[in-house]
Amino acid sequence: MSQAACVKKTDILIEGATIISPGLIRGSDESIVVVDEGSIAIDDERIVYVGPSPAPLEFQNAAKRIDASGLIALPGFVNAHTHAAMTLLRGYADDMVLMEWLEEKIWPIEAHLDSEDVYWGAMLACVEMIRAGVTTFADQYFFMDDTAKAVRDSGIRACLSRGLIATSPNSAEALRENIELCQNWDGAANGRITTMLGPHAPYTCPPDFLEKVMEAAEEFGVGMHIHLSETSGEVEESRAKHAGMSPIELMDSIGLFRFQTLAAHCVHVSPGDIEILSAKGVGVAHNPGSNMKIASGIAPVPAMLKAGVKVGLGTDGASSNNNLDLLEEARLAAFLHKLANNDPTVIPAGQALSMATLGGAKAMGMDSDIGSLELGKKADIILLDVNKPHMYPKHDLTSHVIYSARSSDVTTVIINGKPVMEDGVLTDIDEEEVLRTAEERAKALVAKA
Ligand code: NI
Repeated sequence: MSQAACVKKTDILIEGATIISPGLIRGSDESIVVVDEGSIAIDDERIVYVGPSPAPLEFQNAAKRIDASGLIALPGFVNAHTHAAMTLLRGYADDMVLMEWLEEKIWPIEAHLDSEDVYWGAMLACVEMIRAGVTTFADQYFFMDDTAKAVRDSGIRACLSRGLIATSPNSAEALRENIELCQNWDGAANGRITTMLGPHAPYTCPPDFLEKVMEAAEEFGVGMHIHLSETSGEVEESRAKHAGMSPIELMDSIGLFRFQTLAAHCVHVSPGDIEILSAKGVGVAHNPGSNMKIASGIAPVPAMLKAGVKVGLGTDGASSNNNLDLLEEARLAAFLHKLANNDPTVIPAGQALSMATLGGAKAMGMDSDIGSLELGKKADIILLDVNKPHMYPKHDLTSHVIYSARSSDVTTVIINGKPVMEDGVLTDIDEEEVLRTAEERAKALVAKA
């Protein structure tokens, strides 16, 4: 090998972008930093340079250059709570009371879902999320091998868990499947897939079952993805059954929070609950769209943030949202909490953007790798076109991202250092096949119900 060949080529150099990210400067943490004329160099799967253009000479010898002048570069959005394959049920049943919706519509049709359905439903979700600039999602569902295959095939990043319901007749088998998911898929697809255990919720998983889940978590070194305090009824039931304890107090008392925990919803939480979430480092996935659509209530997100709780954003499943558009979720979060608190200063644009990126990564325990455009982090980067009428004039681009941009403004998506969408075209996925097959499978599914 010649001396010259030893100088490793950078894989990708993005030039001339307006870079907007939390944590861009070491120590800046969640506050947003903007670099007007910036470059990002990617080597293999990691960011090796982020800062002003031009990048230093050592990064100029790139295999691929992306001219990003007139574009915004952001860290990919993190969807911290969803059920990807539920895309097949999008628009199937809306405007219903939660328990009727579940018992009369969702659960009966889910009983007919097979593994192929889940693969194509998850593929549809991956295509939708990539197009919307989502580069990582946290999922809890079943037939998770098939969701894992969709993640592998689509190029997206995900943390997967098998939903566990103790009261269902196959609960032991489900726990075994979740353990196998952790054994077979953790670290797969070049590290894009990570795994968790997925106890559905305290009201479907009593403490004796959770003991078994915690044993597995101990043995396999994985965390938990659980729904907590989504409805007021759930909290009342917990207090009646468990010596006055809220679901969060109950989980704390049995030691669940000694594991990395991602808690979806946390709508009906007391100041004491918030203290526990903060002290135990529990990550919260706030789902404003789903909470509003199902009328679950308003999570006290500003109070959680003030107490130092790690809060990210989620879409929840597509049948209770009904899309997987995390940017929309960020705007909904900002608007909802301004209104709920009668205070327009609550959740300013930068904070909403932080929650949509680094906040979600923290809530999932993945912030050492993703969530911001920082030197050494995984290259999960999206480019947004600002050359649109709704992005003019350019007074404040951070404000524009949250209050004016649309997820369809995302033109290019890089995940784990690999472009998965370029100039609006998916590089590795036959999108037409995904849309057609998902439509066919959804129609066949409805015919069975
Ligand atoms: Ni959910």
